[in-house]
Amino acid sequence: MTPTDTAGLRTASVTYRGRILSPADAGWNDWPDGRLVVRGGKVAQVGPWRRGARADVDLRPHFVLPGLVDVHAHVPQLPVCGVHPGSLLEWLNRWTFPLERRFRGARARELTRVYFREMLAQGTTSAALYTSAWPDSVEACFEEAAALNLHAWIGPPLMDVDAYRPVTTRRVLDEARALARLDSPERRFVVTPRFALSATRELLEGCAALARERGLPIQTHLAEQRAECDAVRERFGQDYLDVYDEAGLLTPRTLFAHSIWLSAREWQRLARAGCAVAHCPTSNVFLGSGVMNWKRARQVRVGLGSDVGAGPDLSMFRVARMAWTLQSLNGDPADAGELLWAATLGGARALGFSGVGALAPGSSADFIVLDAEQIVPPGAPQAESTEDLLSRILHRAGRSAVRQVYVAGVLRHQR
Ligand code: GUN
Ligand code: ZN
Repeated sequence: MTPTDTAGLRTASVTYRGRILSPADAGWNDWPDGRLVVRGGKVAQVGPWRRGARADVDLRPHFVLPGLVDVHAHVPQLPVCGVHPGSLLEWLNRWTFPLERRFRGARARELTRVYFREMLAQGTTSAALYTSAWPDSVEACFEEAAALNLHAWIGPPLMDVDAYRPVTTRRVLDEARALARLDSPERRFVVTPRFALSATRELLEGCAALARERGLPIQTHLAEQRAECDAVRERFGQDYLDVYDEAGLLTPRTLFAHSIWLSAREWQRLARAGCAVAHCPTSNVFLGSGVMNWKRARQVRVGLGSDVGAGPDLSMFRVARMAWTLQSLNGDPADAGELLWAATLGGARALGFSGVGALAPGSSADFIVLDAEQIVPPGAPQAESTEDLLSRILHRAGRSAVRQVYVAGVLRHQR
């Protein structure tokens, strides 16, 4: 049987051999000669190679890691990647909202397919996604994610102020309530008030009520740029986090993107409420937003986000590398293993998914194969320490190093 035989793979067991690295509760497991057994789309066993065992797929000398997790990205924004750096509010109004306004119907379906193809090619197998505000773009995203068996959060940016389509608060909430029918354990419908500036208090409170009634997760943007924080204070007469707090949006299922301009008090409030944070360093550099405080973020669950299209592409390796760079320039010794942990298991935990982000018995067989020749330079030691290999992956991996990507045991991308 070949690994692409999707029907057969659901029942048969397939044994892979290679160097396997997987995040654990603390640190990383590393099996230099490892064995991964996949059955019914799930990991059946993982550990050291057993003498006398037979490999169905011998991946040596390459490296096997869990699929990466992107905890913050915008599906309609791929076309704006890499152009028009500048202030957030100008970038949104001038470039991004017009793009999202056109993201519906056949265009949304086609570009959603393209987005997932690109996401997989970059080695990402789970994500928290914003669609456009049009309901049919949400349906297209759920359909495509289901066809690929991906774990994801999917939600439309809910807006009743300066929205790019004619709406009322009532209609936005009614549409969201109707779309919540799409929610399932693997693909969560996420209540997504876009950010405070695109919402009335009534909408923010309605979002909190909907999430509470249906047990749904919440995602939004928080304290990304100073001018944005000033505008929030001007409009609401409160600090940014307090606006969300008063509306009832701080829950253990809430994920805040960016979270740059926060005080120590606000970080403590996030920690007490059990919220998670999406760290988006490539986007933060591109739009000149600032540097998130990684030391404080350690108090909460934190994952990494590409924030496409303010981020330049869907590479979580690039995102983790930028996080490393900003931290080390900030005088906070950065650790490759910690950042790759955030890009895998940390992200899965930020999303509340227990079945992805690490290779462990019972988890979805979502894994990537990285090209050893691209990661380890010629002449380097043959048997590298875990720490050195994670460092090489963080600093050297990218799209071209991703040889194969499996989702639920099915080969979905081959370089
Ligand atoms: N704040 C509100 N909407 C957006 C968005 O689409 N991208 C980013 N980076 N920040 C936002
Ligand atoms: Zn964003």
